[in-house]
Amino acid sequence: MTKKGKTILIVVIVAFIALSVGMSMFFETNYACGKLCHEMTPYYNTWAESSHAHVNCHECHSWPGFGGFFKTKLVGLEESIKHFTGNYATPIQGEPVIERCIECHEDYREIKETEEIRVDHAMHADLGIDCMACHAGMVHGHNGEGEVTPSHDSCNSCHDTDNYENCSKCHKW
Ligand code: HEC
Ligand code: HEC
Ligand code: HEC
Ligand code: HEC
Ligand code: HEC
Repeated sequence: MTKKGKTILIVVIVAFIALSVGMSMFFETNYACGKLCHEMTPYYNTWAESSHAHVNCHECHSWPGFGGFFKTKLVGLEESIKHFTGNYATPIQGEPVIERCIECHEDYREIKETEEIRVDHAMHADLGIDCMACHAGMVHGHNGEGEVTPSHDSCNSCHDTDNYENCSKCHKW
């Protein structure tokens, strides 16, 4: 290869890497996740009003680690294809990545109660009950109606909150 040929090759490779890194960074922004596709508008708007408005979309909706990086990109690509082909059902279904919640709330097992309620996080986690069993609707709500916090509805699939003998199991009064 000539010297000029090598220079061109290097320039092309560097440009390709820069473009890939740039695109990758762009698609991790809240703008790209939430504003580029109209389907995402309700999720963007509810997020912006939620207790997690300071947390990027990407921080709850991407898988951690090296393998996770590629998984996230593949899912993103699949979603873009669905967007352009219109081949998707609404409301869009999806879950946050629970490992991400735990990265930030690494002491969640210590949460045994709040001012109002007893709810032993470690005990429920050990039963294999994940955050979404009780915090579903957090951030966006169930149907894009805005953030929902835990209520009797969150507990009723396993507990009977109508039975007066049970009230003090959870309530401090
Ligand atoms: C990038 C860090 C980060 C991520 C990811 C994150 N949180 Fe949070 N979360 C926070 C911070 C900061 C607060 C506010 C301070 C606090 O109460 O700890 C908060 C507050 C909360 C609260 C109390 C406020 C409320 O809305 O009731 C809950 C519950 C909660 N987070 C659950 C979760 C769950 C479940 C996930 C995963 C879907 C998650 N968080 C992901 C950082 C994070
Ligand atoms: C069995 C139900 C349940 C599960 C499972 C659960 N939580 Fe909670 N969590 C609650 C309830 C109830 C509260 C109190 C919320 C309120 O008062 O609005 C709470 C509060 C919190 C808070 C705020 C604590 C405070 O002092 O205000 C954080 C942070 C939190 N949960 C994180 C998590 C994370 C992370 C997971 C998953 C690893 C999780 N929770 C799983 C029921 C649950
Ligand atoms: C703190 C974590 C967190 C952040 C930040 C976050 N989300 Fe979510 N997202 C969730 C949770 C939790 C759900 C599951 C919805 C439920 O509870 O039913 C969800 C679900 C979704 C869904 C699927 C719809 C559904 O109801 O299942 C989409 C689409 C989505 N989020 C987009 C976004 C966009 C776009 C952003 C940024 C503008 C964002 N999310 C930021 C936690 C988060
Ligand atoms: C997916 C099932 C499930 C959900 C949802 C659930 N729990 Fe539980 N919870 C259990 C099981 C199983 C036990 C252990 C048996 C028992 O004590 O009923 C338990 C036990 C408890 C206990 C007694 C803990 C102890 O130390 O004896 C409290 C308090 C409690 N849960 C609070 C809550 C609250 C508050 C919610 C809703 C925000 C909730 N749970 C949602 C399954 C669940
Ligand atoms: C399995 C746990 C559990 C049991 C059992 C339970 N509650 Fe609750 N209750 C909750 C949670 C979780 C909330 C919402 C979080 C909060 O207020 O901090 C709540 C909220 C409430 C509220 C406030 C409602 C509101 O809109 O803010 C009242 C009132 C209440 N409960 C009454 C009762 C009565 C009466 C009983 C018994 C018949 C009972 N609860 C049994 C977990 C429970």
